[in-house]
Amino acid sequence: MDHRLGRVLISQAEITERVRELGSAVAQDYAGCEPLVVGVLKGAVVFLADLIRAAEIPVTVDFIGVSSYGTSSRSSGVVKITSDLSVSIEDRHVLLVEDIIDTGRTINYLRRNLQTRHPRSLKLCALLDKAERRAEEVAIDYLGFSIPNHFVVGYGLDFGGLYRNLGYIAVLETEPSA
Ligand code: IMP
Ligand code: MG
Repeated sequence: MDHRLGRVLISQAEITERVRELGSAVAQDYAGCEPLVVGVLKGAVVFLADLIRAAEIPVTVDFIGVSSYGTSSRSSGVVKITSDLSVSIEDRHVLLVEDIIDTGRTINYLRRNLQTRHPRSLKLCALLDKAERRAEEVAIDYLGFSIPNHFVVGYGLDFGGLYRNLGYIAVLETEPSA
């Protein structure tokens, strides 16, 4: 199926402003804690990079890679860790950073997994929330934007690996077949 970029859902300016607010909240809540910020590869990379600079407190950073079996636009609920953390999170204040919460299966799986490693605390920061699609309840501690049920790309989010480097979030539209 052919796809093309549709309308801009969240502009670069809106993202910048919201990330600044989230960074301030994180900085306030984690002052003196030196949190470990864990980005979920690869979608959260762009958001994480801006978020930690907006937070302006001492943090350390690590990444975890997951793949959910299914097509690129649907999550099956079966999640596999493809690239694990490089450090122990035992007794650390961990802030998990994800690009988008859709059904909620990926993040809940990750949360359960990380919790078994006994972090001191574990919170979730998500850029986008597609609540309409939720299959499992998810507690989001810091949220950028709630969005309607569209497939979106940009600012880290991809379709088939592309569009991650857009500075804004746009709707991906399916071209009517000729
Ligand atoms: P969940 O397990 O259904 O919550 O799926 C979450 C994952 O699906 C995200 O980390 C994304 O990689 C991917 N995903 C869900 N919706 C979108 C979207 O609209 N655009 C790009 N990726 C998405
Ligand atoms: Mg993802």
